[in-house]
Amino acid sequence: SHGHKTAAHWRIGIIGGSGIYDLSVLDEVQEIAVQSPFGAPSGPVTLGKIGGVEFVFLARHGAGHRIPPEGINHRANIDVMKRCGVTDLVAISAIGSLREELAPGSFVAVDQFIDRTHGRPQSFFGEGLVAHVSLADPVCARLSGLLGDAAQAAGATVHRGGCYLAMQGPQFSTRAESRLYRQWGADVIGMTALPEARLAREAELPYALIGMVTDYDAWREGEHVDVAQVIEVMHGNAATARAMVTALAGLLPPERSASPIDHALDGAIMTAPAQRD
Ligand code: ADE
Repeated sequence: SHGHKTAAHWRIGIIGGSGIYDLSVLDEVQEIAVQSPFGAPSGPVTLGKIGGVEFVFLARHGAGHRIPPEGINHRANIDVMKRCGVTDLVAISAIGSLREELAPGSFVAVDQFIDRTHGRPQSFFGEGLVAHVSLADPVCARLSGLLGDAAQAAGATVHRGGCYLAMQGPQFSTRAESRLYRQWGADVIGMTALPEARLAREAELPYALIGMVTDYDAWREGEHVDVAQVIEVMHGNAATARAMVTALAGLLPPERSASPIDHALDGAIMTAPAQRD
């Protein structure tokens, strides 16, 4: 504003899903409980650094995996990330595969979503302040690209692009549902990325999701998912996920240039200024 350049730093939020309950790659760690007017987040956040880059980590299902998919307070989680000054948000999730070529053990940089969840608060807006943000491109291409590169550098097999079907759960899908989702064009399935991704956009946080394929869901004759399989694959992937986060810190450009998503609310609010609560 006074003609001088202000360095724009990255502060990367990470929401870790099943199997990712801590990020022991962080230095100078500090655990803090952050309050939110939207209620209790999944737990305290862990602040830390890797090679000078600041990270803010939150375990999506809480310590010891006590919070079910439908019980996650996504509004509080996203609000807490925003309050911590996060600039960009990375989600790591276990996913089922709806495609032969997306084999268990591989990673998918998701770029689209289909929502089959219900009964989950999915907006920060509503009565008194109505807003409609665009979700046409729900994932930040820059962040997703960097995350895919980081996963590759960590030794993972990475598929770039993929449509994530968010199901309600907590039961896994029937075979008929699994086959229907394939016909709809979904590539992977999970229970938690929505409304998380919607709320990240409303909070003007660039969001990218890397899914770790744990199973082939139910569409293949004679096969079905079980939790033991999901846990086994996640344990096998945990070290790669940590190496991915370390690699991401190394791949970020020294300065963060602005993203259009930083201003996602510009032009999104319908309520007349004089009528806003
Ligand atoms: N998470 C991991 N595998 C899954 C599956 N098959 N369906 C829903 N969520 C999952």
